[in-house]
Order: sequence, then structure tokens, then C-alpha cells
Amino acid sequence: MRRRPRGEHIIRLDGVGLRYGLGPEVLQDISFALPAGSFHFLTGPSGAGKSSLLRLMYLGLRPTRGRVMLFDRDIAQTKRYELPALRRRIGVVFQDFRLLDHLSALDNVALPLRVRGVKESEVQKHVPELLGWVGLADHLNAKPSTLSGGQKQRVAIARAVIGRPDLLLADEPTGNVDDHIAMRLLHLFEELNKLGTTIVIATHNEGLVQRFAHHKRLHLEHGTVSKVEE
Ligand SMILES: Nc1ncnc2c1ncn2[C@@H]1O[C@H](COP(=O)(O)OP(=O)(O)O)[C@@H](O)[C@H]1O
Ligand SMILES: [Mg+2]
Repeated sequence: MRRRPRGEHIIRLDGVGLRYGLGPEVLQDISFALPAGSFHFLTGPSGAGKSSLLRLMYLGLRPTRGRVMLFDRDIAQTKRYELPALRRRIGVVFQDFRLLDHLSALDNVALPLRVRGVKESEVQKHVPELLGWVGLADHLNAKPSTLSGGQKQRVAIARAVIGRPDLLLADEPTGNVDDHIAMRLLHLFEELNKLGTTIVIATHNEGLVQRFAHHKRLHLEHGTVSKVEE
């Protein structure tokens, strides 16, 4: 695995603001830093700006003011051609899954490994194992269009974690599954965290956060951070 210097902040925002087009600022004065290996729930009511903040963190959007540092690089100073390499260190679970419709569940999850040139024998070993773990052993060859929302969500999670990213960002990753599967998915994120991945999970499921209350919390209220435990 990649070596990380001790004490590095995986991501750091200073005085960040974000507006969409000419609209009002939906995020204001956001400042926090997440140490390598930390595990945070990103909480706050619907519309507070959780998804927008995650977009800034996976470089899906640029802030309209302030500074974003990712893996100790100032994003505003980073050349465009250098960004894909930074993005490959991030696993993202999108709220709308963003699976490739023409690929099977197995091939969707295998994609990050194949892009990286992992041996096919390894792919064929690890991908079915992980899909089995999230309860999809019987759906390896299923196309996304034949899967339920909760099943697609689990494929999306498997794809985000399979490559053991340095940073995992998940937007409401348990929004479509039953409680016992939500618990299992949270345990999967915890296992990944033990292997060194920094985790941020956006959720408005207070019950789930309470059950995993040993993790830290980054709380958004009206577009700004009202509480961060570092
Ligand atoms: N693509 C967009 N264009 C314009 N406004 C947006 C867009 N996405 C989100 N917003 C607005 O930004 C605010 C925060 O939304 P969002 O980040 O989705 O919050 P949350 O994920 O906490 O529900 C809301 O007022 C929402 O309407
Ligand atoms: Mg959201």
C-alpha cells in the first residue's frame, strides 16, 4: 500500500464558499481539516449542503472562494492534467450510483482495478468476494437495470471501496437499504478505515449515526459547519 507521511491532512478547507451560478452562497466560511485515517459522519438537515461539500471534496466542483487542499496539494495551484491522479485516490459513492448500464455488477466493480492494471486473476478473486460480502453473490452478472435501488447502491459501494482508496466519500450510502444491511455496510466502511482509508459519510439518518456514535461528526447547518470533531 502507498505510504503516507504521519500527520498529513487528507483534506483541508479554509474559508471556503460555494455558489451555483448566480445563486446565493450555499456553503459559507467552511474551514476544517481531516487527518489521515479519520472517520467522520457528515450530518445536517436536507438542503444544508452535504452533497455540495462532498462535490468540493472529490473535485467535482471548484469553490467560488477560499482554498481546498487535497493530499497536501492546493487544488487552485494544481495543473488540470494532474487532477485525474488525485481523483483516482478517492472512492466516491454517488447518491444516484452512476453505474455503467452496459456492464454487469461484476464488471462495474472491477473497473477501478482493471484501469489500474490489476491482474485478471486477482480481479476474479476479489470482486466476487466483495460482492458476496454485500449480499450480491447471486447477482454478479446482473446488469444495473435489473437491480433494485438498494442492490445498485451496494454495487456502487463495492466499486468505491474495491481499490482501497486513500479517501472514501459516500453520499447517503445507506439511503436505499434495510437497517441490517445498513449496519453491514457501515462495518465494511469501518474495515476499510482500519486499512488506512479516511472516510466521510454524508447521512441524515440520525439513528444510524447514534449506533456508530464512536465516530466523529462534521455537522452542517444552513451551509456552514456548526461542529467538527477533529
Ligand atoms: N446543481 C445545483 N444547482 C443549484 N443549486 C443547487 C444545486 N445542488 C444543490 N443546490 C442547492 O444547494 C443547497 C444545498 O444542497 P445540497 O448540497 O444538495 O444539500 P444536502 O445534500 O445537505 O441536502 C440547496 O439549497 C440546494 O437547493
Ligand atoms: Mg444531499
